[in-house]
This record gives sequence, structure tokens and C-alpha cells, in this order.
Amino acid sequence: MRDDPEFITRPYRTVDRRAVRAIYGSDEFARPQLQRKVPRMGEYLADSMSHYTDYEPESVFVAEAQGEVVGALLGAVDTARCEGVYRRHIRPLLLRRCLAGAYGWPGWLLPVLRTEWASRRTVYPEVDLRQYPAHLHIGILPVWRRRGIGTALMACYEEALRQRGVAGFHLYASSFHPLGVAFYRKLRLENLGQFEWRLHDGFQWQRVTEHIFGLRLG
Ligand SMILES: CC(C)(COP(=O)(O)OP(=O)(O)OC[C@H]1O[C@@H](n2cnc3c(N)ncnc32)[C@H](O)[C@@H]1OP(=O)(O)O)[C@@H](O)C(=O)NCCC(=O)NCCS
Repeated sequence: MRDDPEFITRPYRTVDRRAVRAIYGSDEFARPQLQRKVPRMGEYLADSMSHYTDYEPESVFVAEAQGEVVGALLGAVDTARCEGVYRRHIRPLLLRRCLAGAYGWPGWLLPVLRTEWASRRTVYPEVDLRQYPAHLHIGILPVWRRRGIGTALMACYEEALRQRGVAGFHLYASSFHPLGVAFYRKLRLENLGQFEWRLHDGFQWQRVTEHIFGLRLG
């Protein structure tokens, strides 16, 4: 774990859950206008990422500064297993909470469904999960960016995967996440391919280029 006068990185603890949900419950890049219009979409976004904290907390790492969680890396060691948990537990949770009114008026649902429907013909380059079985998401609060926190969290994750004997990891970075794309390029991850898809942002369609990055740890 990294120690720095400004911040530390460490494994996730259950008490961090609310702070991690706050980071992943904000949509600055994909559908920011829609989230301003439908603020409770944040609860849906946080639930849609809850696999990591609730089913695989040992693969989550946080950065803490001034006593607050300011960044979080959500990892999954076995992507195929993670997708199974998502289908069995997270999708039903989203449906249950939506029907129970936890998200208020679900104004985000139509753009999400339109995007899913438009993606059905997308041709995805296949990621070899024997070589790159793990994956991750990363987010740092805006004022804490560009201070080395993202790099430190990636180092924590990489070290944890090596200790567990995991062959490698991959990740997806959309063109509407330009900071993420610049960050992964700086880290010199392998380029595993890219593909185009369309996102409905609640107001219009956007063309998106999805970059796939990876790293073998063997
Ligand atoms: C991407 C993100 C995690 C990077 O975290 P960070 O703590 O700011 O990254 P670091 O400070 O460790 O930056 C490492 C390098 O990445 C590159 N980089 C990071 N942010 C950048 C930016 N805004 N513009 C250009 N390059 C950038 C730089 O080369 C930087 O090194 P340098 O500062 O020495 O030039 C952070 O910007 C973030 O949370 N963005 C929003 C969410 C997101 O895009 N997540 C990824 C989704 S795919």
C-alpha cells in the first residue's frame, strides 16, 4: 500500500461503502445532463456497480486523503464470474428497486434501453479471458485528480492480482472518458482493440469509440 503525505491507498472496508457509492453515483461524462434532470439516477448508477463492494470487496481499493475516501478502484478477479453475479443478483436488484420507487421517476430507463437495443448488433473484439481474466473500474473525485492517486490505486490492484496469481487484467475506456483514455495510455497498457457503439444520452445519440486495454502479469 502506498503512503504519501497527501493521500494513502488501502484495501476497501465496509465503512467506505457510502463514499464509494458517491463516487460511482455521479455521471459526469456519459449522461451528465440527464443526471441533472433526474438526480436519483445516481442511486441507480451506484447500485449498478454494487457487485464490487457487495460481492467482491477484497478486490476493491480506495484512496484516502484528509480522512475522506477520494478515489476507488473496483476490481473483479474473474470477469466471467462477475458477469454471472451481475445477471443473478444485480439486474434483479435494479429491477426490484426500480419497481419499489427507490430511483424516483426512472427517466434514465428509456435511454439505457435504447442504448442496449442499439448495441445488439455491435461486433465486439473478444478479450481472451485466459490471459486477461480480471477487470477494473477507477474513479477519483475531480479535485483530487492529477496527483498520482489513480496511478497508486492501479499499482495496488496490480500487486494484489500478482499475489493471487492472476494472469492479467483488461478494461474498457469509452471516448466520452477522455481522462481515462489518456491515463491508460500513460500507463502503457497493451492495446487489445477497439469498437464503435452508440450511446443515447437522454437527449440525442452519440457515437462512442470503446478502447480495450490490458496487461498480462505472468
Ligand atoms: C482517469 C483517472 C482515474 C486518472 O486518475 P488520476 O489520479 O487523475 O491520475 P494520475 O494523477 O495518476 O495521472 C497519471 C497520468 O495519466 C495521464 N492523465 C491523467 N489525467 C489526465 C488528463 N486530465 N489529461 C491528460 N492526461 C491525463 C497523465 O499522463 C498523468 O501523468 P502526469 O500527471 O504526470 O502527466 C481520473 O481522471 C478520473 O477519475 N477520471 C474520471 C473517471 C474516469 O475517466 N475513469 C476511467 C473510466 S474508463
